[in-house]
Amino acid sequence: MKFLVIGVDGFIGQSIFEALRTEDFEVRGTSRRSFLESSPCLNSPNLISVDLLTLNSWDTILGNLNPDCIIYCAGITSFNQCAVNPDKAFAVNAFAVKKLCQALNGSGCRFLYLSTSAVFDFQNKFSKAQDRRTGSSLYAKSKIEGEDHALTYGGQVLRMTKVIDSSFNLFVKWKKLLEKNHAVCAFNDYYLSPVDIESVKNAILNICCNSSLFGSSIFHLGGMHEYSYANYASQLKLMIGSSSLLNIKSAQGLFGKEILDSGCTLQTSISIQNEEYISDYNILRYFV
Ligand SMILES: NC(=O)c1ccc[n+]([C@@H]2O[C@H](COP(=O)([O-])OP(=O)(O)OC[C@H]3O[C@@H](n4cnc5c(N)ncnc54)[C@H](OP(=O)(O)O)[C@@H]3O)[C@@H](O)[C@H]2O)c1
Repeated sequence: MKFLVIGVDGFIGQSIFEALRTEDFEVRGTSRRSFLESSPCLNSPNLISVDLLTLNSWDTILGNLNPDCIIYCAGITSFNQCAVNPDKAFAVNAFAVKKLCQALNGSGCRFLYLSTSAVFDFQNKFSKAQDRRTGSSLYAKSKIEGEDHALTYGGQVLRMTKVIDSSFNLFVKWKKLLEKNHAVCAFNDYYLSPVDIESVKNAILNICCNSSLFGSSIFHLGGMHEYSYANYASQLKLMIGSSSLLNIKSAQGLFGKEILDSGCTLQTSISIQNEEYISDYNILRYFV
């Protein structure tokens, strides 16, 4: 099976590119960076230079590669960046998807679009795949449009909650503070239902390779539980054996209700379909 990963420099793109290579699949990837800049672990003969904002046509690339499956990992992923530059957000998260899917039409190539729990209104816990997507941030809107282009083509969509590995900045910072028995500040009304990068890689491989999943179009991947950041801080404190003081605060109390309007998330969970992954506090294993 021949894979093409769009956006191999990103957090998930790089992980899935490496995972596919480890599994001995034939895999090529796209990067908009010069190859020297790209991560040294990426092997440049496998890379194709593509800037999704300026690429005129996919025909030559697709004609040369003839991929069986494309995984679309590129994206403008920051709420802030999307709000500041909506044109760019829609161009990368949606219009480039439409263009690629149109070029693929009739090819039989499978297409997987990575999406987010942000497409739902964060007031609802554990949204299901067919629930109405009411996400109102520009990030959410551009991802909803991207999903629609992928689904119209007959592709698949994988929606994820926050994806975490050992580099997750906030927990790395907490770990350092806790180890020194310094105080840690955490919100009790700001929630996380994360999924670990290993589960994401497994899910993507499964969706792309397991024929029993080919009939499903939307997949959800997230934690089984939703805990506040304060809960995570106290659990991490316990696991590290720290005597730090936990300074528990309210995000809404500090920033007002606008924290929701800015696209930040108070609740982040998503119901799990087709696959079951349990992360909850186990996700903290990266940090102890
Ligand atoms: N990480 C999460 O927690 C999470 C959770 C749910 C859903 N997702 C979804 O999963 C996907 C991947 O997320 P991620 O965290 O891996 O994102 P990321 O680390 O921000 O990577 C995004 C990638 O898109 C590339 N890109 C941006 N603009 C481009 C352009 N004009 N042309 C070509 N490439 C461009 C970036 O290239 P540069 O590096 O050169 O900028 C980067 O490689 C996104 O669609 C996101 O919505 C992520």
